[in-house]
Amino acid sequence: MAVLASWVWVLAGCFCAAVAEVSDSSDPYPPLWEDSPEQLSDYMMEDGNYIINPWVYTDRMGMYRILLEETAMYFAKYGPENEQNLLWGLPLQFGWQYQSGRLADPTGMTDCGNELNESLCVSVDSWWADINYYLSVIPFLAAVDSGITGISPNQITILPPPKDQMRFCYNVSDCQSAVPGTMNRWRDFFQYMQLNSSDFDGLLNYLWEAHASSLDYPTSAFGDRYNFYSEKEANFEENWAIAVNYLAAARLPTTQNRTYSFQRGLPPRVLVDTDIAPFIPDFTPLQNEVLVSLKLLGDTDRNSGSLSLTLWENLMSTKLARTLFLKAFEEFLATSS
Ligand SMILES: *[C@@H]1O[C@H](CO)[C@@H](O)[C@H](O)[C@H]1NC(C)=O
Ligand SMILES: *[C@@H]1O[C@H](CO)[C@@H](O)[C@H](O)[C@H]1NC(C)=O
Ligand SMILES: *[C@@H]1O[C@H](CO)[C@@H](O)[C@H](O)[C@H]1NC(C)=O
Ligand SMILES: *[C@@H]1O[C@H](CO)[C@@H](O)[C@H](O)[C@H]1NC(C)=O
Repeated sequence: MAVLASWVWVLAGCFCAAVAEVSDSSDPYPPLWEDSPEQLSDYMMEDGNYIINPWVYTDRMGMYRILLEETAMYFAKYGPENEQNLLWGLPLQFGWQYQSGRLADPTGMTDCGNELNESLCVSVDSWWADINYYLSVIPFLAAVDSGITGISPNQITILPPPKDQMRFCYNVSDCQSAVPGTMNRWRDFFQYMQLNSSDFDGLLNYLWEAHASSLDYPTSAFGDRYNFYSEKEANFEENWAIAVNYLAAARLPTTQNRTYSFQRGLPPRVLVDTDIAPFIPDFTPLQNEVLVSLKLLGDTDRNSGSLSLTLWENLMSTKLARTLFLKAFEEFLATSS
C-alpha cells in the first residue's frame, strides 16, 4: 500500500509540475490537428464509401477529430469550447506517439514514419500504433454504429496495413466478432452519452471501461513487437500498459487541458539502451521522474501478481477516494500556478 500511496503522490505531483510548466502554452492540440479530416466528406470517396487509411497519421487523427466534433454537444453542459470532452485523451495520446517518433517503423526496414516524405506513415510494426488501432478504429466504428455520425457503418471502408492484416478488423461486423467485448463497451459509452440522464461521472465510468477493454486483445497479440525496441523502450511499453489500468481505476478525467499538461511528463523520444532514468540528460526532471515511477509501478504490479491492481481498484472504488485523489491533484494545481 505504501508504494501505491506514494505512486498517487508522484502522479499528482507530476500533474502539478506538468501544468506549471505549460501554463504559458497556448495550443493544447495534437500535431497536425488542423490538417486532419474534420468531417467524413474530407476523406476520399469511392463507390459511395469514405476511404480511411488508419496507417496514415492524419487519416487516423481525423477519426478522432470527427468523434470530438460529433460528441461536442454531449459535453457542452460541462464547460465551453469542448474542453471537457473526455475523448480528448485519445487524440492527444496519439499525437504524443507521433511527436515522439513512436509511430515510425522500429525495425528500420522501411522509411515509414522516419523519412521526411514518409513522415505521415504509421508503421504496422510499431507497438504503439498497433495498440492505438484498438483505441481509434474500434471506438470510431462503435460510434458510427451508435448513430453518432449519422451515416451507416457500411459507408466506411477502413484500409488494411501492408502486412499482418489478419490481426486487425475493418468493419462493424468484423470487429464485433473479433473483439466483441470491446465493441460492446464502446457502444455502451456512446449510447449512454446520448441519454438525457447521462452525467459526467457516468461518462467517465463508461469511457474507462471501454478504454481498458480496448487494451485486452492488442497487449497480448502484439508482444512480438517488443523485440523491435531497446530493452528500455520495451519495458516502458509494458509499464505503460500496466499504468493505464491504474489510471482507469482512478477514473482520471481525460479532459483536454489536463491530458495535454499530463503528457509533458512522458518521454519525448523513443528510449534507447543507454537511457537510465532518472539520469537521462535530454529529458526534463519530470520526464525522468515519471519513468522511474512507471518502473516502480510496473515492478510492484508484476511482483504482486496484479494483487496491487486489485487493491488499488478497491481503494478507488468509492467516489470519495477518487474525489480525494482529484482534489489533492487540484490543490497541487492551485498552489503551483
Ligand atoms: C485550456 O487551455 C487553453 C490554452 O492554454 C486556455 O485558453 C483555456 O482557457 C483552457 N481551458 C480551461 C477550461 O482551462
Ligand atoms: C523519399 O525520399 C527519398 C530521398 O529523396 C527518395 O529516394 C524516395 O524515393 C522518396 N520516397 C517516396 C515515397 O517519395
Ligand atoms: C467486413 O470485413 C470482412 C473482413 O475484412 C469482410 O469479409 C466482410 O465482407 C466485410 N463486411 C462488410 C459488410 O463490409
Ligand atoms: C430528452 O430531452 C429532450 C430535450 O430536452 C426532449 O425533447 C426528449 O423528449 C428527452 N428524451 C427523453 C427520452 O427523455
